[in-house]
Amino acid sequence: MIETSNIKVTKAATSKLPQIDFDNLPFGKTFSDHMLTADYADGEWKNFEILPFGDIGLSPAISALHYGQSFFEGLKAYRHADGQISVFRPDQNAARFNKSAERMCMPTLPEDLFIEGILALVNVDKDWVPSKENYTLYIRPFMFATDPFLGVAPSTTYKFMVLLGPTGPYFSKNLRVKIETEYTRAAEGGFGYAKAAGNYGGSLLPAKKAAQQGFDQLIWTDAKSHEYIEEMGAANAMFVIDGKLVTPSTRDTILDGITRKSIIELAKGFGMEVEERRISVKELLEAIANGTCTDAFGAGTAATIAQVAEIEHEGKTYTLPNPAESVFANKMRKALDDIKFGRVEDVKGWNYMV
Ligand code: PLP
Ligand code: COI
Repeated sequence: MIETSNIKVTKAATSKLPQIDFDNLPFGKTFSDHMLTADYADGEWKNFEILPFGDIGLSPAISALHYGQSFFEGLKAYRHADGQISVFRPDQNAARFNKSAERMCMPTLPEDLFIEGILALVNVDKDWVPSKENYTLYIRPFMFATDPFLGVAPSTTYKFMVLLGPTGPYFSKNLRVKIETEYTRAAEGGFGYAKAAGNYGGSLLPAKKAAQQGFDQLIWTDAKSHEYIEEMGAANAMFVIDGKLVTPSTRDTILDGITRKSIIELAKGFGMEVEERRISVKELLEAIANGTCTDAFGAGTAATIAQVAEIEHEGKTYTLPNPAESVFANKMRKALDDIKFGRVEDVKGWNYMV
């Protein structure tokens, strides 16, 4: 149980819970009764407050709107069979939050305040954590610049907020993906490794064009040559090739995913060889064509493990083995879920109990 004494809590007069259809929860559309806010001003974080979810008044001149000083995180809370609730590896999100903050020239937030704020908010809205299989409470922390100033300069004031929303799986089917060779998500020296809002804004047009061609997701390639695999939509790209787990090594163009690093650790624990390295499009497509690539999936908090059925590259389609029969992806999904939902002992200390 988290001590909420440092955080002012104002409860909503009524709960929206009775109106929520827990059988119909598209990602990101339903929000819980409360949210957390805090302010950065005069060089320090203050005013940590949990209050009813609702609109906030802001100047139309805030620099987040004009120059994109804004970034976010994504993590989830899970309800165990005995009713206990845990949050998965918030310490990792806290660390990455601050990496994003530094790159976007924004203030860092002490990791204990990030974790404490999230656990306190989830505790207030614990009835919102779904009990249905595969359903979770998505947690969206974010920070944005609030100086009402149109000069291109780092803001001196910021807001940290956390929203919660119950959700089912982000993808409901195996994916048909396209290897993107025109647009780029992130370039060397840029900020692809930060969860900056602009990275997602810039991905919308290529993703929309791909969707119009019937694809569910893009595989991003490197900005210089489009010859190397980087990420898969808003998830890390992972493959099993020749019985080894192969995934692009993280660099400044790639988000260092927490699902990715958890899978790598679990796979090594199962005795599997893991290669974090550059993977060329050519290598991947040859491995699919000759049957040595047995698994392809995106790994992420929202995506969980999203398996790939088909990959298209320059008009040619490559079909993966039937995802339902994949040994590795299904074993990893189960191993991760067993920990997150408290079905096995949490020997790694990944669950933070609410
Ligand atoms: N890559 C991108 C671009 C993402 O947006 C995400 C989602 O958060 C990931 C990878 C996966 O990261 P994580 O497993 O920490 O959610
Ligand atoms: C997450 O997995 O938390 C993400 O950030 C993906 C999101 C952009 C939908």
